[in-house]
Amino acid sequence: MKLFVKKSLEQLTASSDGEGTSLKRTLGAGNLVALGIGAIIGAGLFVRTAAAAGGFAGNAVTISFIVAAIGCAFAGLCYAEFASIIPIAGSAYTYAYATMGEIVAWVIGWALILEYALGAATVSISWSEYANNLLGGRIPYEWCHSPMESAIDSAGVHHHGLINIPALVILILLSALLIKGTQESATVNSIIVIVKVSIVLVFIAIGWGYINPANHTPYMIPADAKPAILPDGTSYSYSDFFRHGWGGVIRGAGIVFFAFIGFDAVSTAAQEAKNPKKDMPVGILGSLAICTILYILFSWVLTGVAPYTDFMHAGKEASVAYAISTYMHGFGWLSTLVTVAILMGFSSVILVMLMGQSRVFYTMATDGLLPKVFCDLHPKFRTPYKSNMILFIFVGLFAAFLPESVAGDLTSVGTLFAFVLVCFGVIILRKKEPNLVRPFKTPLVPLVPILGIIVCAGMILGLPRDTQLSALAWMIVGLLIYFGYSRKHSKLGTLGEIIPTATDFEKK
Ligand code: ALA
Repeated sequence: MKLFVKKSLEQLTASSDGEGTSLKRTLGAGNLVALGIGAIIGAGLFVRTAAAAGGFAGNAVTISFIVAAIGCAFAGLCYAEFASIIPIAGSAYTYAYATMGEIVAWVIGWALILEYALGAATVSISWSEYANNLLGGRIPYEWCHSPMESAIDSAGVHHHGLINIPALVILILLSALLIKGTQESATVNSIIVIVKVSIVLVFIAIGWGYINPANHTPYMIPADAKPAILPDGTSYSYSDFFRHGWGGVIRGAGIVFFAFIGFDAVSTAAQEAKNPKKDMPVGILGSLAICTILYILFSWVLTGVAPYTDFMHAGKEASVAYAISTYMHGFGWLSTLVTVAILMGFSSVILVMLMGQSRVFYTMATDGLLPKVFCDLHPKFRTPYKSNMILFIFVGLFAAFLPESVAGDLTSVGTLFAFVLVCFGVIILRKKEPNLVRPFKTPLVPLVPILGIIVCAGMILGLPRDTQLSALAWMIVGLLIYFGYSRKHSKLGTLGEIIPTATDFEKK
């Protein structure tokens, strides 16, 4: 059936090796780990840790990080197997094309737009907030907020957002960098990664001395915890199942999951890796492992320095700067440095997300599922420059006119959905192609992929209902486009009969 037509490995590699028409192979293992960390450490750690601790998990936000990391590790092991066998630019989309057929591939590609394009928009909105913070709030409210937001200032004047200009500025700068070249982008990313990891380490090292052991007890929020007072004066009860104890830890995991999004972006750069079969697993699993350790230590120190209840009424967004300036006297410089590092950190997240999105579009366009303009390469830089420009407009519209909250959780659903399908893909490929050469093998198949499916699906179910419904609506639009355009233009679908089948995978 054409809907389930699959790509063979020969086709996959042939489409990636065209002389002069393919992406450049410039990235080594170190670049790939840096690319992963570049996409991973961002708003999730610096903004959501405090939100998860304050409202749901308390000090046990460290366990929330471990739960989210376990889900990601299962999925990461599956990604690594695929990335080592099929080192092509499209990531999960490509793996699905080879194992589950075109329509599933399309669905994943469509879900990845939520992860990468919407993820980039979400983080650029956070970037705008922090940039304005650093400038002492000099940018008028109207020019740095979406029309869906309004606020009353200290003089009682009502302000309405018009357009988020700083978010557009950072997006255009990073899109230009991506057009210039992958190696240049990777270099900028590596510098940023060094800065942001150093700041996280400095905060952990200095903050450790300021941990007040009393703040760490009780470890989980008790069911009868005193209600917190919110900034608007209303009270917030912890009695709900998902606001204390283990329920709170699970809800917290759903919130901090955002902090791990991005390790899979490494796999979108497979076609630009020098030695993808060996370096892809290192890039994916290495970046995930390093970030998990940093996150657990960071959240332990943050909740030790400031009581988690503080985060309900103070410093929600700038939580780290708040904890330092309130409880670590004499370290004002660290607070400013943290803000600068966070801005840089956000930039690298946006950079890798934009890059990931353009690479997924590149592959989908090569397959005919999207218009050809998305795979046109720049004659000199050999980057998909037209795609980068169109993407800037698309992501820019979200960033300029939407509030952050609308975009954030949708990004998580899209990502978790792709993770679930990649886990399925590993099980299917093991059954269909047991003898395939696998430079990296996911251990304990099918147990690991099944656990990955359970943990990731569980996190989707834990997200708000509105978010789940919006994701469903997005998927329906995607299917309409597939049946209206992509299916008719699919190179594989229209030439299906002369194309080799999945049995052409390399066997030895
Ligand atoms: N993991 C990325 C962040 O936390 C998306 O910003």
